[in-house]
Amino acid sequence: MGTGWAMGLVGRRARPSPRARPGAGPASGKLAGVEFDEVIRRRAMVRSFSTDPVAPDTVDALVRAALRAPSAGNTGGTQWVVLVGEAETARYWDTTTDEAWRDSSPRWEGLRRAPVILLAYASAEAYVARYAEADKAASLLGSSETAWTVPYWIGDAAFGVMSALLAAVDAGLGACVLGNFRGEDALASTLDVPEGWRLFCAVPVGHPDGNDHRSPSLDRPRPTPDERIHHGRW
Ligand SMILES: Cc1cc2nc3c(=O)[nH]c(=O)nc-3n(C[C@H](O)[C@H](O)[C@H](O)COP(=O)(O)O)c2cc1C
Repeated sequence: MGTGWAMGLVGRRARPSPRARPGAGPASGKLAGVEFDEVIRRRAMVRSFSTDPVAPDTVDALVRAALRAPSAGNTGGTQWVVLVGEAETARYWDTTTDEAWRDSSPRWEGLRRAPVILLAYASAEAYVARYAEADKAASLLGSSETAWTVPYWIGDAAFGVMSALLAAVDAGLGACVLGNFRGEDALASTLDVPEGWRLFCAVPVGHPDGNDHRSPSLDRPRPTPDERIHHGRW
Protein backbone atom coordinates (compact mmCIF):
# COMPACT_ATOMS: atom_id res chain seq x y z
CA MET A 1 0.00 0.00 0.00
CA GLY A 2 1.07 3.60 0.26
CA THR A 3 1.77 5.90 -2.59
CA GLY A 4 3.00 3.16 -4.93
CA TRP A 5 0.28 2.96 -7.51
CA ALA A 6 -0.56 6.66 -7.38
CA MET A 7 3.05 7.66 -7.75
CA GLY A 8 3.41 5.15 -10.56
CA LEU A 9 0.89 7.16 -12.49
CA VAL A 10 3.15 10.16 -12.45
CA GLY A 11 5.96 8.11 -13.79
CA ARG A 12 7.83 6.45 -10.95
CA ARG A 13 6.75 2.90 -11.63
CA ALA A 14 7.12 1.44 -15.08
CA ARG A 15 3.84 0.26 -16.51
CA PRO A 16 2.76 -0.83 -19.96
CA SER A 17 2.17 1.98 -22.42
CA PRO A 18 -1.46 3.11 -22.47
CA ARG A 19 -1.45 2.07 -26.13
CA ALA A 20 -0.21 -1.47 -25.42
CA ARG A 21 -2.68 -4.15 -26.50
CA PRO A 22 -4.39 -6.28 -23.86
CA GLY A 23 -2.13 -9.17 -22.97
CA ALA A 24 0.99 -7.23 -23.87
CA GLY A 25 1.77 -6.54 -20.18
CA PRO A 26 3.49 -8.81 -17.67
CA ALA A 27 2.67 -12.50 -18.22
CA SER A 28 1.19 -12.84 -14.72
CA GLY A 29 -1.29 -10.05 -15.45
CA LYS A 30 -0.12 -8.37 -12.27
CA LEU A 31 2.14 -5.36 -11.89
CA ALA A 32 4.76 -5.83 -9.21
CA GLY A 33 3.82 -4.19 -5.92
CA VAL A 34 0.20 -3.43 -6.73
CA GLU A 35 -2.07 -4.89 -4.06
CA PHE A 36 -5.18 -4.47 -6.08
CA ASP A 37 -7.49 -6.60 -3.92
CA GLU A 38 -6.53 -4.60 -0.87
CA VAL A 39 -7.28 -1.30 -2.59
CA ILE A 40 -10.69 -2.57 -3.73
CA ARG A 41 -11.48 -3.95 -0.28
CA ARG A 42 -10.49 -0.80 1.59
CA ARG A 43 -12.28 1.67 -0.63
CA ALA A 44 -15.11 3.25 1.31
CA MET A 45 -16.40 6.77 1.66
CA VAL A 46 -14.44 8.92 4.10
CA ARG A 47 -16.26 12.09 5.11
CA SER A 48 -14.15 13.40 7.98
CA PHE A 49 -10.66 14.72 7.37
CA SER A 50 -7.79 16.31 9.24
CA THR A 51 -6.46 19.62 7.96
CA ASP A 52 -3.14 18.02 6.95
CA PRO A 53 -2.34 18.98 3.37
CA VAL A 54 -1.92 16.45 0.57
CA ALA A 55 1.37 16.57 -1.32
CA PRO A 56 0.96 18.28 -4.72
CA ASP A 57 2.42 15.25 -6.55
CA THR A 58 -0.17 13.02 -4.93
CA VAL A 59 -3.02 15.36 -5.87
CA ASP A 60 -1.70 15.34 -9.41
CA ALA A 61 -1.51 11.54 -9.40
CA LEU A 62 -5.16 11.23 -8.35
CA VAL A 63 -6.35 13.42 -11.20
CA ARG A 64 -4.11 11.65 -13.67
CA ALA A 65 -5.59 8.34 -12.48
CA ALA A 66 -9.01 9.78 -13.33
CA LEU A 67 -7.79 10.74 -16.81
CA ARG A 68 -6.59 7.16 -17.39
CA ALA A 69 -10.15 5.84 -17.08
CA PRO A 70 -11.88 4.44 -20.16
CA SER A 71 -13.66 6.95 -22.37
CA ALA A 72 -16.37 6.23 -24.92
CA GLY A 73 -15.00 6.76 -28.41
CA ASN A 74 -11.82 7.95 -26.70
CA THR A 75 -13.62 11.27 -26.45
CA GLY A 76 -12.06 12.36 -23.19
CA GLY A 77 -14.97 14.72 -22.64
CA THR A 78 -14.51 15.01 -18.92
CA GLN A 79 -12.53 17.73 -17.21
CA TRP A 80 -11.54 18.28 -13.63
CA VAL A 81 -11.31 21.32 -11.41
CA VAL A 82 -8.84 20.78 -8.58
CA LEU A 83 -9.39 22.91 -5.50
CA VAL A 84 -6.55 22.89 -2.98
CA GLY A 85 -6.47 24.69 0.37
CA GLU A 86 -9.14 26.49 2.32
CA ALA A 87 -9.50 29.52 0.05
CA GLU A 88 -10.14 27.33 -2.99
CA THR A 89 -12.28 24.63 -1.36
CA ALA A 90 -14.46 27.42 0.08
CA ARG A 91 -15.48 28.22 -3.51
CA TYR A 92 -17.21 24.84 -3.57
CA TRP A 93 -18.76 24.93 -0.10
CA ASP A 94 -19.90 28.56 -0.29
CA THR A 95 -21.84 28.00 -3.51
CA THR A 96 -23.25 24.49 -2.99
CA THR A 97 -24.27 24.55 0.66
CA ASP A 98 -26.35 26.95 2.71
CA GLU A 99 -26.33 27.92 6.35
CA ALA A 100 -29.25 25.66 7.19
CA TRP A 101 -27.37 22.60 5.89
CA ARG A 102 -24.10 23.61 7.52
CA ASP A 103 -25.85 24.14 10.87
CA SER A 104 -27.63 20.82 10.76
CA SER A 105 -25.24 18.40 9.04
CA PRO A 106 -23.20 16.25 11.42
CA ARG A 107 -20.73 15.83 8.54
CA TRP A 108 -20.05 19.46 7.76
CA GLU A 109 -17.11 19.99 10.13
CA GLY A 110 -15.36 16.84 8.95
CA LEU A 111 -15.98 17.55 5.29
CA ARG A 112 -14.97 21.21 5.32
CA ARG A 113 -11.49 20.26 6.53
CA ALA A 114 -10.78 18.28 3.35
CA PRO A 115 -7.68 19.98 1.95
CA VAL A 116 -8.54 18.98 -1.61
CA ILE A 117 -11.73 18.80 -3.65
CA LEU A 118 -11.81 17.32 -7.14
CA LEU A 119 -14.76 18.37 -9.27
CA ALA A 120 -15.70 16.05 -12.12
CA TYR A 121 -17.23 17.83 -15.09
CA ALA A 122 -18.64 16.23 -18.25
CA SER A 123 -19.64 17.68 -21.60
CA ALA A 124 -22.50 16.03 -23.50
CA GLU A 125 -21.59 18.17 -26.51
CA ALA A 126 -18.13 16.64 -26.70
CA TYR A 127 -19.65 13.13 -27.04
CA VAL A 128 -22.30 14.23 -29.53
CA ALA A 129 -19.55 15.83 -31.65
CA ARG A 130 -17.33 12.76 -31.37
CA TYR A 131 -20.12 10.38 -32.39
CA ALA A 132 -20.89 12.57 -35.40
CA GLU A 133 -17.42 11.72 -36.76
CA ALA A 134 -17.22 9.29 -39.68
CA ASP A 135 -16.17 6.20 -37.71
CA LYS A 136 -19.09 6.63 -35.29
CA ALA A 137 -21.74 7.96 -37.67
CA ALA A 138 -23.55 4.60 -37.83
CA SER A 139 -24.36 4.96 -34.14
CA LEU A 140 -26.77 7.81 -35.02
CA LEU A 141 -25.72 9.48 -31.77
CA GLY A 142 -24.11 12.46 -33.44
CA SER A 143 -27.29 14.46 -33.97
CA SER A 144 -28.07 15.60 -30.45
CA GLU A 145 -27.91 14.68 -26.80
CA THR A 146 -31.51 13.44 -26.92
CA ALA A 147 -30.49 10.62 -29.30
CA TRP A 148 -28.52 9.00 -26.48
CA THR A 149 -30.33 6.42 -24.37
CA VAL A 150 -27.27 6.08 -22.15
CA PRO A 151 -25.35 9.28 -21.29
CA TYR A 152 -21.80 8.08 -21.87
CA TRP A 153 -20.40 11.41 -20.62
CA ILE A 154 -21.74 10.62 -17.16
CA GLY A 155 -20.36 7.08 -17.42
CA ASP A 156 -16.95 8.45 -18.31
CA ALA A 157 -17.04 10.89 -15.42
CA ALA A 158 -17.99 8.04 -13.08
CA PHE A 159 -15.15 5.83 -14.35
CA GLY A 160 -12.78 8.72 -13.70
CA VAL A 161 -14.12 9.29 -10.21
CA MET A 162 -13.73 5.60 -9.41
CA SER A 163 -10.12 5.66 -10.57
CA ALA A 164 -9.44 8.70 -8.38
CA LEU A 165 -11.11 7.01 -5.38
CA LEU A 166 -8.96 3.91 -5.79
CA ALA A 167 -5.81 5.98 -6.28
CA ALA A 168 -6.68 7.85 -3.07
CA VAL A 169 -6.90 4.58 -1.14
CA ASP A 170 -3.59 3.47 -2.61
CA ALA A 171 -2.03 6.75 -1.53
CA GLY A 172 -3.24 6.18 2.05
CA LEU A 173 -5.84 8.95 1.75
CA GLY A 174 -9.59 9.09 2.18
CA ALA A 175 -12.13 10.45 -0.26
CA CYS A 176 -15.86 10.56 -0.81
CA VAL A 177 -18.39 11.32 -3.49
CA LEU A 178 -20.82 14.18 -3.06
CA GLY A 179 -23.75 14.65 -5.37
CA ASN A 180 -24.85 18.22 -5.96
CA PHE A 181 -28.43 19.27 -5.98
CA ARG A 182 -27.99 22.98 -5.53
CA GLY A 183 -25.59 25.72 -6.45
CA GLU A 184 -24.19 24.21 -9.66
CA ASP A 185 -24.64 27.44 -11.64
CA ALA A 186 -23.16 29.60 -8.90
CA LEU A 187 -20.21 27.23 -8.60
CA ALA A 188 -19.68 27.24 -12.37
CA SER A 189 -19.74 31.02 -12.38
CA THR A 190 -17.27 31.24 -9.47
CA LEU A 191 -14.91 28.80 -11.21
CA ASP A 192 -15.32 30.16 -14.76
CA VAL A 193 -16.59 26.78 -15.99
CA PRO A 194 -17.57 27.19 -19.66
CA GLU A 195 -21.14 26.75 -20.86
CA GLY A 196 -22.22 23.14 -21.42
CA TRP A 197 -20.07 21.48 -18.77
CA ARG A 198 -22.12 19.68 -16.12
CA LEU A 199 -20.89 18.79 -12.67
CA PHE A 200 -21.16 15.04 -12.06
CA CYS A 201 -19.98 15.13 -8.47
CA ALA A 202 -17.43 16.49 -6.04
CA VAL A 203 -14.71 14.33 -4.50
CA PRO A 204 -13.31 15.75 -1.25
CA VAL A 205 -9.93 14.15 -0.55
CA GLY A 206 -7.66 14.22 2.47
CA HIS A 207 -6.27 12.38 5.45
CA PRO A 208 -9.01 10.54 7.37
CA ASP A 209 -9.24 11.78 10.97
CA GLY A 210 -11.17 8.74 12.17
CA ASN A 211 -14.28 10.71 13.17
CA ASP A 212 -16.53 9.63 10.37
CA HIS A 213 -20.27 9.72 10.89
CA ARG A 214 -21.66 6.48 9.60
CA SER A 215 -23.80 7.05 6.54
CA PRO A 216 -27.48 6.14 7.03
CA SER A 217 -27.22 4.58 3.56
CA LEU A 218 -25.05 1.85 5.06
CA ASP A 219 -27.90 0.81 7.37
CA ARG A 220 -29.95 -0.37 4.42
CA PRO A 221 -28.72 -3.79 3.43
CA ARG A 222 -27.25 -4.04 -0.04
CA PRO A 223 -28.77 -6.75 -2.20
CA THR A 224 -26.61 -9.85 -1.89
CA PRO A 225 -24.22 -10.94 -4.65
CA ASP A 226 -26.61 -13.81 -5.48
CA GLU A 227 -29.37 -11.29 -6.03
CA ARG A 228 -27.19 -9.16 -8.29
CA ILE A 229 -25.22 -11.62 -10.38
CA HIS A 230 -26.98 -13.64 -13.05
CA HIS A 231 -25.19 -16.43 -14.86
CA GLY A 232 -26.27 -17.31 -18.35
CA ARG A 233 -29.52 -15.34 -18.16
CA TRP A 234 -31.25 -13.01 -15.66
C1 LIG B 1 -23.23 8.81 -7.82
C2 LIG B 1 -23.02 8.81 -6.33
C3 LIG B 1 -23.50 9.88 -5.57
C4 LIG B 1 -23.30 9.91 -4.20
N1 LIG B 1 -23.71 11.00 -3.50
C5 LIG B 1 -23.41 11.09 -2.19
C6 LIG B 1 -23.74 12.28 -1.46
O1 LIG B 1 -24.27 13.25 -2.01
N2 LIG B 1 -23.41 12.33 -0.15
C7 LIG B 1 -22.79 11.30 0.47
O2 LIG B 1 -22.50 11.41 1.65
N3 LIG B 1 -22.47 10.14 -0.18
C8 LIG B 1 -22.77 10.02 -1.49
N4 LIG B 1 -22.45 8.87 -2.17
C9 LIG B 1 -21.80 7.76 -1.47
C10 LIG B 1 -22.72 6.57 -1.21
O3 LIG B 1 -23.65 6.89 -0.19
C11 LIG B 1 -21.85 5.36 -0.79
O4 LIG B 1 -21.02 5.02 -1.89
C12 LIG B 1 -22.67 4.16 -0.39
O5 LIG B 1 -23.43 4.43 0.77
C13 LIG B 1 -21.79 2.93 -0.11
O6 LIG B 1 -20.80 3.23 0.84
P1 LIG B 1 -19.24 3.04 0.52
O7 LIG B 1 -18.93 3.79 -0.73
O8 LIG B 1 -18.55 3.61 1.74
O9 LIG B 1 -18.99 1.58 0.35
C14 LIG B 1 -22.64 8.83 -3.55
C15 LIG B 1 -22.18 7.75 -4.31
C16 LIG B 1 -22.35 7.75 -5.68
C17 LIG B 1 -21.81 6.57 -6.46
